[in-house]
Amino acid sequence: MKQEPSLTSLRPKLEHAFAFAQTQVEALITRYPDYFPLYTEGGKWKHAGEAWTNWCEGFLGGMMWLFHQRTGNEIWRKWAEHYSLLLEHRQFDRNVHDLGFVFWSTWKRWYDLTGDPALNAVIIQAGKTMGMRFKEKGQYLRSFVSDDSLFIDIMMNVGIVFYAAQQSGDADLLRKAHAHCLTTRRTIVRGDGSTSHEGLFDLDTGEFLRQSTHQGWRGDSAWARGQAWALYGFGTAYSLTGERKYLQTAQMCADFYIENTSFDDDAPFEPGVPPNDWDEAGSQAESSAAAITASGLLNLAQIVQDPIHAARYRQAALIILDTLTGPEYLADATPGWEGILRHGSYHQRKGLGVDESVMWGEHFFVEAVYKAMALIEKESR
Ligand code: GLY
Repeated sequence: MKQEPSLTSLRPKLEHAFAFAQTQVEALITRYPDYFPLYTEGGKWKHAGEAWTNWCEGFLGGMMWLFHQRTGNEIWRKWAEHYSLLLEHRQFDRNVHDLGFVFWSTWKRWYDLTGDPALNAVIIQAGKTMGMRFKEKGQYLRSFVSDDSLFIDIMMNVGIVFYAAQQSGDADLLRKAHAHCLTTRRTIVRGDGSTSHEGLFDLDTGEFLRQSTHQGWRGDSAWARGQAWALYGFGTAYSLTGERKYLQTAQMCADFYIENTSFDDDAPFEPGVPPNDWDEAGSQAESSAAAITASGLLNLAQIVQDPIHAARYRQAALIILDTLTGPEYLADATPGWEGILRHGSYHQRKGLGVDESVMWGEHFFVEAVYKAMALIEKESR
């Protein structure tokens, strides 16, 4: 792994990227008011491409809350409240497994800022709604696809179930959240720390049948974004519960990402950026997986006890951010491009959003940049 970038060289890149992100988001909401995009086509957000599922609506407001938190700009707060309120009804949405993405990015940030119990009630309801996805036979929260399906992505959404259970003292909901994590760990996290996108179960018996995928290459291959969801999601599950098994799993997943992605200057997609699937020949770069990973690794660097691992996670995260704030990935050098981060990928098999900007990539990139700037400032005090 190459050396950690010097903080004096990284800091202005992070600040520039954060400012550029604000410019792009302002342009997006001015051009397309109250529109919730998923991915660009040819760099443009508004198009008639298929959504597949509705899971990205929290990321726009989520970025606005981060902009407000860092700059104190009240305009960002006004927009953040507006874009959060547009999602209030989703607290009862039983069609998606993504209510963590929707509410943790928006209403949770709003609640953390204000402590208003009415806001908290919405987050708790969203967590309870997520809990209704639980399959007793099989012991998992089902994906949006079907009753027999568990997705690795749900690890990013089980946090809101833990939170709702803890806030409301609901022991049965807490049991379901733990069971989901343990089933995910047992069935779709592998011994080498890689993950599969999906696990399929027998609905009559609850028996785990096989690993499968939608957005990766094969059931037995390693889809990079799923890996990023896993390392981030298990880390959050540990932070919320103190259950050490989740931290060990997060670290296994993080170590697999780091060991299988080049962090050197001759890396195929620049240091720290993986292909969409590590096992697929000719797989294209997936910058959103890198952005999610940078943010997840910055979390892990704070919570692991071993300083050697903490330093390695931080080093990897800052190398990724050095790459993503450079000219190949930051879209500021591409005139007319409406996104922030280039070379993301949504669904290669369906041909949706390939080599484009993707809304979750934007959000987790902004989140990682925000955290890295806070870290640098703390250290330079
Ligand atoms: N299905 C969520 C994702 O694309 O990662």
